[in-house]
Parts: sequence; C-alpha cells; structure tokens
Amino acid sequence: MFVCICNAVTDHQIKETVAAGASTLGDLQAQLGVATCCGCCTDLASSFLTANNAQQSGTVNAAINVSN
Ligand code: FES
Repeated sequence: MFVCICNAVTDHQIKETVAAGASTLGDLQAQLGVATCCGCCTDLASSFLTANNAQQSGTVNAAINVSN
C-alpha cells in the first residue's frame, strides 16, 4: 500500500529501509523521500519506526528472560 502518495513510497519500501538500519524519520526522508512534501504521511511513516523499536525491545527482553 502507498504510505506517501506525494512520493509514491510504499509500506514495503519503508519496512525494508527500517530493516536495513533506518531508525529515524530523517533517515526515511533522506533515503526514500517520504514525508518531504505535504507531510500527511508523517505519522504513518513514523509508526513503522515505532513498531520496529517495539519489536527490538521485545527481542531484547526475551533474551534477558532466557538468560535469567
Ligand atoms: S503524502 Fe507523503 S509527503 Fe505528502
């Protein structure tokens, strides 16, 4: 699905960019151009960063629980 209509950026592209190491909205803006025009997609684009951070925290917590 298109997240950023202005720049034709899809959710798949954002997920791949986050998986490759993008960790801020600025990273996504620099690499994909998302949220650099009207800004309507800013919250949705940022949600992919939040989801990834939560997923990484879960992985860390699971690792801590396993080691204890
Ligand atoms: S929809 Fe992304 S900048 Fe306009």
